[in-house]
Amino acid sequence: MSPKKRSADQEDLNVIAPSPRKLRRSVNEDHIETPRQVAAVSQAAVITDSSSRRSNNGNGSNDSLLTPYEGRKPRVLQNASARRAIRLASPAASVAPPVTPSHLSKDDNNNKDKTKNVTPSPEDYKSPAKRRLIFGKLVEEIVIQPNTKRVYNLVKKLTGSLGGNGSCGPIYGELTQGSMQKMVNLMKQHTQLDKTSRFIDVGSGIGKPNLHVTQDPGVAFSCGIEMELDRYRLGLKCLQRVLQEAVNDAHDDAIKDKVRHNCMFLHGNIMSARTFDPFTHVYMFSIGFPPKLWVYLSEAWNRSQSPYMICFHGPRTLINDYEFEVELLAQTPTSMHASGEGHQGYIYQRKGLTDKTVQAFIENAPCDKVFERAKTLVQSGLEPLREVVDQTVAENWTSRRSMTRSEAKRHGIVLSK
Ligand SMILES: C[S@@+](CC[C@H](N)C(=O)[O-])C[C@H]1O[C@@H](n2cnc3c(N)ncnc32)[C@H](O)[C@@H]1O
Repeated sequence: MSPKKRSADQEDLNVIAPSPRKLRRSVNEDHIETPRQVAAVSQAAVITDSSSRRSNNGNGSNDSLLTPYEGRKPRVLQNASARRAIRLASPAASVAPPVTPSHLSKDDNNNKDKTKNVTPSPEDYKSPAKRRLIFGKLVEEIVIQPNTKRVYNLVKKLTGSLGGNGSCGPIYGELTQGSMQKMVNLMKQHTQLDKTSRFIDVGSGIGKPNLHVTQDPGVAFSCGIEMELDRYRLGLKCLQRVLQEAVNDAHDDAIKDKVRHNCMFLHGNIMSARTFDPFTHVYMFSIGFPPKLWVYLSEAWNRSQSPYMICFHGPRTLINDYEFEVELLAQTPTSMHASGEGHQGYIYQRKGLTDKTVQAFIENAPCDKVFERAKTLVQSGLEPLREVVDQTVAENWTSRRSMTRSEAKRHGIVLSK
């Protein structure tokens, strides 16, 4: 990175520190000779406003050490890492240059050690709110809950890092963890996605979106329906592992972010459902859906009462082409796992939706028969759910044959024709 670029980056971070080259220049200009003096200048370089001066020794007598930045107006620091860098430069710390002290001489180990204590590490620069891309652009940092991360790791162990292994090849379409979190955040912000929500993923694949919202925000009912048998089986296997983890967590008081369990997967074609009720959030990673499916989804949506729909097609496709009765609420760019391909994620609400109708639907929604068993099962709690999932996995996993219709019926699973 060029010194010019580095300087610009530091401005972005609101750490008003000169680049090493600039620092060396200012050191020469001020005729400072000893490494200790260099360190002192570095210290001053971190903090530029009047409050920072006070922090040098409590009475502002170190003003003479301030760099040419002292003439500037005090800046309001938006950036958390910058604020933290300033906190680190407390009187006790005494030295806080965000500059790696490569310019210190070999025998200046004392200063080096002091500097080490207070120099913000690369981790410190990583603000909880912003992240820097390789060419310096700052982007919003996506915060993912620990339980969500644990679940993704469990899934990765079972399915491999490429995700989505299935009968149609090793890679299939799914969002990255960060992009899924972005969609979850957007749903929380615009559609009240919370612990009372009921979420369906239409074409759930191996089930990551379902498992994600099961953890964050911990929806009441997360249901996936997938017609590809191998993907459904993988999803079920992942759910089984997640439920084991949820059981372990339930017995461990030390764990704060417990793995949650309100999830079930169905094997079948969404076209066997007449409506999307009782789901408050109808999610679909719709890339590649055929027109016939779109027509069906539109009819089913217009028959349903579900308030929100989340998909990866814009209003032109949804409203103009397929006549979904929806209004656009929000959209955000997302990227796909493995390929990195980008797609806009869109959040819609039912046309004419009011807070009152949403509340009424949350409290008392009809339920399409396709989802009835799964809903009751999830409501019955972790142990009964786990028992059924274990049994279903055993029946599915140990044999190569597909489930019989009677087995499927026993588990409330809809088989595709
Ligand atoms: C692109 S993948 C998305 C997987 C998952 N939703 C995700 O975001 O990680 C779409 C999935 O939809 C499934 N699918 C397509 N048409 C379907 C239908 N009519 N009923 C159920 N699943 C379907 C496909 O088999 C595929 O696994």
